[in-house]
Amino acid sequence: MADQKKISLARGAPSLDIVAVDDLRASADRAFERDPGGVFSYGTSKGYPRLVEWIARKQGVDEDQVIATNGSLQADDFLFRHLVEPGDVVVVEAPTYDRTLLGLKEMGAEILAIPLEEDGLDVEALAEALEGGARPKLAHVISNFQNPAGYTLSLDKRRRLLELAAEYDFVVFEDDPYVELRFEGEDVPTMLSLDENEKVVYASSFSKTVCPGIRVGYLVGPKGLIGDIRKKATNTYISPGMVAQAIVAEFCESGAIDRSIETVKEALRERRDTTCAALEEKLPDARFARPEGGYFLWVDLPDGDDVAKLAEAAEERGVVFTKGTDFMLEGGDASFRIAYSGVGPEEIQEAIGRIADARAELSG
Ligand SMILES: Cc1ncc(COP(=O)(O)O)c(C=O)c1O
Repeated sequence: MADQKKISLARGAPSLDIVAVDDLRASADRAFERDPGGVFSYGTSKGYPRLVEWIARKQGVDEDQVIATNGSLQADDFLFRHLVEPGDVVVVEAPTYDRTLLGLKEMGAEILAIPLEEDGLDVEALAEALEGGARPKLAHVISNFQNPAGYTLSLDKRRRLLELAAEYDFVVFEDDPYVELRFEGEDVPTMLSLDENEKVVYASSFSKTVCPGIRVGYLVGPKGLIGDIRKKATNTYISPGMVAQAIVAEFCESGAIDRSIETVKEALRERRDTTCAALEEKLPDARFARPEGGYFLWVDLPDGDDVAKLAEAAEERGVVFTKGTDFMLEGGDASFRIAYSGVGPEEIQEAIGRIADARAELSG
């Protein structure tokens, strides 16, 4: 077993074969040629101007509502540090992105975890908590192809959440790095575009559509709030990386981004299909919802299955995945996340076969 090839279903990153290396190189050449003064010097904390313009156009907002950051996790962190004081209540989905949980815990937030359903956050459970006296400052919601579950928040729930945010005066933080990666079905409007009360702050990223190594993401929100965050960002790093942002600006303006998104979607659709078929064949009692896009799929094994032990046994067979408990404050012991983004269909099939073998061995 020890010499089996290692396969990771743990990393939410694209495999190298679907990164548009040639288009990135051409974008870098053009950016360096066209604007050496802007590319090679310090910028300002708003980000590389042409990228900020492109983002503002895409999101239908003013440029002073945008800050382009070094990856969207930095955008998340800026927002949390700006709004959240120790003891503040913050709503998260259960399960949610593990780094969100870690960041909020570190800040001393009081985390109110609301169950996630196949059509997104259980908004009525949140309404009940609000009626019962909960007063969150912020609700963090990954609206499309959620990390870790792959679920998407329905339009009705988006509207209801905005109503609640206006009524109870909290910010909806729409964390949306996977929005462009829909394989099928209809796009759902962002809460940013539906919001009429300046309650939404929106983040997205080029990590999942271009590559994570470029470290470019952004935050969009009300002018006053973005202005304050820009000031803090200046003290943090003067400006984000202009070289990376200028390359992304060229990549976007030239249309290379559209080709890249198509490449990623095509590969991931096939990987999603392979994952679902392999689960149906090898783990027929596992429950999962087929994601309509994105990088992830959430697997529930029957109650009583011990995924912590399964993870160890799978690792002995060279396969890693992420345990459900990593994404929750409590529960998740019989669940796990598969990231099908980072390896090809054959490896996915092989990995799920090994997980099934490990489980069969554990159950004797
Ligand atoms: C929901 C969510 N937000 C933020 C991030 C951070 O992405 P990045 O900093 O690479 O833009 C990720 C990455 O996996 C994510 O899944």
